[in-house]
Amino acid sequence: MPQYLSPPKILVVDDERSMRELLEILLLKHGYDVQCAESGLEALDIVRSQPFDLVITDIRMQPVNGLEVLKQCKTISPRTTVIMISAYASTELAVEAMNEGAYDYFPKPFNNEEIISVISTALRSRGDDPTLSKPQEGPLYFGCLIGESPPMRKIYENIQRVAKTSSNVVIIGESGTGKELVAKAIHRQSARGDQPLVIVNCGGVPENLIESELFGHKKGSFTGAAANKMGLVETAQGGTLFLDEIGELSPLLQVKLLRLVQDKTIRMIGGTEDILVDVRIISATNRDLERMVMDKTFREDLYYRLNVLPIRIPPLRERREDIPVLAQYFLSKFTKDFGKDIHKVSSYAMDILCNYEFPGNVRELEHIIERGVAMESSRIILPDSLTLSMYRRKEQEQATASDVSEIPIEGFDLDQHMAEIEKRLLQQALHQTGGAKLKAAQLLGISFRSFRYRLLKYGLATEDELKNLGQ
Ligand SMILES: Nc1ncnc2c1ncn2[C@@H]1O[C@H](COP(=O)(O)OP(=O)(O)OP(=O)(O)O)[C@@H](O)[C@H]1O
Ligand SMILES: [Mg+2]
Repeated sequence: MPQYLSPPKILVVDDERSMRELLEILLLKHGYDVQCAESGLEALDIVRSQPFDLVITDIRMQPVNGLEVLKQCKTISPRTTVIMISAYASTELAVEAMNEGAYDYFPKPFNNEEIISVISTALRSRGDDPTLSKPQEGPLYFGCLIGESPPMRKIYENIQRVAKTSSNVVIIGESGTGKELVAKAIHRQSARGDQPLVIVNCGGVPENLIESELFGHKKGSFTGAAANKMGLVETAQGGTLFLDEIGELSPLLQVKLLRLVQDKTIRMIGGTEDILVDVRIISATNRDLERMVMDKTFREDLYYRLNVLPIRIPPLRERREDIPVLAQYFLSKFTKDFGKDIHKVSSYAMDILCNYEFPGNVRELEHIIERGVAMESSRIILPDSLTLSMYRRKEQEQATASDVSEIPIEGFDLDQHMAEIEKRLLQQALHQTGGAKLKAAQLLGISFRSFRYRLLKYGLATEDELKNLGQ
């Protein structure tokens, strides 16, 4: 079960009462422990007396302003995350605050959901958001698996369920969806967890070698068999055999595998005796095995014996709510690896990611973030650093151009449809120009002013970003 920690403590600093109250109610509602200070001086007194996980401070205050609160906070308690808010949006102030170590900057009035999401991400990257559990402890981080969408939660439940049994499992999912991670999680959680997990890629080994790889051979059984060699199935004795790309197995090997599944025995190439093996088989495939059974390219009897418990992992584009949390996870991982100080994917870059199709699923997202971290020279990942596959961009272009073939009988919302097309074209233009807004506006034949207005209208950028990024 997930283990919940005590809620993170947040200090709200603002000389304006209504703003303090608004933030206090909002944060309490989201389960945070909140305290308020009505001046910079009071805030510093409080911060000196007790640690806070996060401080949200107004900038313009007398006599101690928000920047001073930020600097002192970072000296008194460097681990505290500080977020700035200000009614007087100024690029210089924002830049100064970021340089002094602020995590983010919001001009007032801000969007409640956006600020909550930034707070949650900030605390998550420190690893102490109460609504999240620590790795290995709960459903959001399940072993090495990350994702909090309903389908992922269902997968975690299924992993726990099948781990209690010794039945064979087939994991079905497109390439890069995390099939191997799921197989590892099942193995680790099962009673066989401390026994070997042997991974065989049925597609990666040449046909003539795989039989010997899997079942072993006796000395002299074929040219080159200089000694007895134990097969991978036998090395998995007592543990789990993970057969990746099971759909690639030849008919001959399907028969041999059926024997293993049915009788729990194998015979080495050139051998005469049967060897009894106790292995649990987890198979994975990105092919439609049912279809292969119908087409008679995959044995039906084998299919039913391997597929006692199926686990289907949906593609990333069908669980888009996992994109931000995965992106943030990979960001923390690669900033550490590259020794860089990038703490966030800018909201516009995140929006691009959330709307992208991910033909390569989580693996592709991982590579995009890795390249982004490598290329980025500022402290947040900007759209220019995202390299999305050209192939998919083309598809998106076509999707943009596609029109409605028939007006549905129940009626149609023309304005909404036009708005969607407009939003997609704005995104497309930004993709094509690598995020350069002036060029994107030119591409669309509209003024920069108009382009800017539309970006804000569709939530593709915040005022703050537009000011800070400029051209
Ligand atoms: N839910 C997830 N949380 C964290 N990382 C993930 C998740 N899903 C996939 N990954 C990462 O994405 C990459 C691809 O995952 P994995 O190899 O398990 O996919 P796969 O489905 O086996 O792909 P293929 O069909 O190409 O073999 C790995 O680096 C893995 O760590
Ligand atoms: Mg795999």
